[in-house]
Amino acid sequence: MINLHKGLNERALEINVPGIRVFANKVALLSDGINLTIGEPNFPTPDRVKTAAITAITRNQTGYSHNAGLLELRESVSRFFQHKYGFHYDPSSEILITNGASEGIDSTLRAILEEGDEVILPAPIYSGYEPVIHLAGAKPVYLNTSKTGFVPDALALESLITERTKAVILNYPSNPTGVTLPRDVMDKLVEILSKHKVFIIADEIYSENSYEEQHISFAEYPAVRDQLILIHGLSKSHSMTGWRIGFVMGPAHLIGHILKVHLSNSICASLPSQHAAIEALEYCRDVPSEMNKEYIQRRDYVISRLTTMGLHMIHPKGAFYVFPSIKSTGLSSNEFATKLLDKKHVAVVPGDSFTEFGEGYIRISYANSMENLISALDRIESFIHE
Ligand SMILES: Cc1ncc(COP(=O)(O)O)c(C=O)c1O
Repeated sequence: MINLHKGLNERALEINVPGIRVFANKVALLSDGINLTIGEPNFPTPDRVKTAAITAITRNQTGYSHNAGLLELRESVSRFFQHKYGFHYDPSSEILITNGASEGIDSTLRAILEEGDEVILPAPIYSGYEPVIHLAGAKPVYLNTSKTGFVPDALALESLITERTKAVILNYPSNPTGVTLPRDVMDKLVEILSKHKVFIIADEIYSENSYEEQHISFAEYPAVRDQLILIHGLSKSHSMTGWRIGFVMGPAHLIGHILKVHLSNSICASLPSQHAAIEALEYCRDVPSEMNKEYIQRRDYVISRLTTMGLHMIHPKGAFYVFPSIKSTGLSSNEFATKLLDKKHVAVVPGDSFTEFGEGYIRISYANSMENLISALDRIESFIHE
């Protein structure tokens, strides 16, 4: 009998299925289950975006594109960010279209990381970075933000920088906490990071889901432009998770190297999706703010219900998650999520899925219908009372 595991990449064997998927897969088996795990807008993709893709298919625009993506789409990406945030990336050399932000993260990290490198991540943080860092033989170094309102303290972050530090990953608005960064914190981070030779990977995929102030991008700071790689995409802003369109923006010489990794793993992003993306960026710029009106109502409802139950949280100003503490229940976050699912058929994500610094919390996604949220919160309330 051949040992099929022999010879497999040790690091691949060590990767775990993220907590989000574990709970999402379990709740999918329950006919009356409510899934509050996945960060996926429940709005349909805008009609004219769908029509653009159908038209592209009808016109046989179904082949490969330039490896970096259609120039026309890169121009639309450039115009969108210029218009919204006033910063400029050159479509011909500084923008890469990827298969979702996930592939952008993967190609970027694999283009820059070497064995033994360290990557600093303020935590709790989205679970999509750690496996890629691990596969590259690099090491995540976490900055605990649970004592500072989930906002990274710039000096504490600086104290983690060593000569092995290759990059810092910053994801704001944050998955899982919903925290956004105020101007003074960004100024401080930029001041400190610009002094060090480290890459800044800013995953700003939730920029359009900023509910109280206009999002501030790290790309607005000329001091870090040479070291900044911006990760973005349409999954969240335009309810296009399944279309797999992401963007990587950065200085031309870096994009050139990331492009080589990207073309070797996927050649290019799906062409009909690229045509749909042009439509979204050019003609659906108001779609995110329309969705935000709904998200704000849902967020406020979830916060008020949880607060009444005695569960408290940092006020989330962006993304579509609340991250309440469940320490008062005496349960670990995994016990809480497991029991809630078993007894009440509601799936949430245990905070420790976002590193050990998320222990004592759960993540609830309110990218779900109000009807489901009401029913789920009724069940959570009765679970807590029991
Ligand atoms: C912070 C963050 N970055 C990236 C992604 C992946 O986005 P995409 O669907 O575009 O690959 C997610 C998805 O949940 C996310 O939360």
